[in-house]
Amino acid sequence: SLTSVKPPLTIRLCGPRGFCAGVDRAIQIVVLALKEFGAPVYVRHEIVHNRYVVEGLEAKGAIFVEELDEIPAEHRKQPVVFSAHGVPKSVPADAAGRNLFYLDATCPLVSKVHKQAMRHNRLGRHVVLIGHAGHPEVIGTMGQLPDGAVSLIETVADVEAYEPADPDNLGFVTQTTLSVDDTAGVIKRLHERFPNLTAPAADSICYATTNRQEAVKQAAAGCDLFLIVGAPNSSNSKRLVEVASRAGAKTSLLVQRAAEIDWSQMADVRTVGLSAGASAPEVIVNEIIEAFRARFDARVELADTVEENENFLVNRELRHVPLTTA
Ligand code: F3S
Repeated sequence: SLTSVKPPLTIRLCGPRGFCAGVDRAIQIVVLALKEFGAPVYVRHEIVHNRYVVEGLEAKGAIFVEELDEIPAEHRKQPVVFSAHGVPKSVPADAAGRNLFYLDATCPLVSKVHKQAMRHNRLGRHVVLIGHAGHPEVIGTMGQLPDGAVSLIETVADVEAYEPADPDNLGFVTQTTLSVDDTAGVIKRLHERFPNLTAPAADSICYATTNRQEAVKQAAAGCDLFLIVGAPNSSNSKRLVEVASRAGAKTSLLVQRAAEIDWSQMADVRTVGLSAGASAPEVIVNEIIEAFRARFDARVELADTVEENENFLVNRELRHVPLTTA
């Protein structure tokens, strides 16, 4: 019988990709809380920015809310988990005021940024936060300090326009999931305008963001298309799309599921870069590879950079609960 010959295609699969230690820990906290305390377990905000993850946890008995007042009185004894992005100080205070039992799934690397911001403040410095307005991590970091103690800067243009009350007493921190290259530009300009600006004691952009961007950068040249698995509200995933374009991929796109891929655009595509944001599960990466294999004679080429060994412990209250798959 006649079978059509599938066109050849190379998939450059970046590593590291996908789940970081903070996302892995946050999901574990919800799963373990469900095992230990039974359903429902409330989660304030998407635990990580991924629909697939959220729906999987909903199926196990998690209920997602945006604010604590959505938790019905009869469920007040059930735990509420705070998302990996971190929360303003007002949120645990509000939870305590409502007699709620909360488990904080804030990534330890976000908590570290909170501590750095508080340290600047304690030492009398006004805090400059480099980040994206409206992102929950930015809301959480700003909310570590009283109103007016933190100024948000997004771009070099913002640095030009910034007129602090005391230009000699500034300390900066950043969101953990920013573009490494763009942020370096913003920091450079801040240092030029404010020579006495104090840097945080440790980098704010996290290892996972840095490693995923570097792997995409190294793989991008020569790619006809670069796909980043991730959600439109995922900061680190969006940054990977930008990195791929700037580093030479002809087109780069964010994709949530294989079903979204527009195959009519693939006629001339021979090399596809593939990576996943820190909140995107590996099953979707595999789903996309399989979707290409169904249409192409696809060869997967591993584009690995560094090895990651980070692993964060869950909250003390949950350490005794065995993590077996339900
Ligand atoms: Fe934490 Fe970085 Fe992941 S801050 S949640 S390790 S992207």
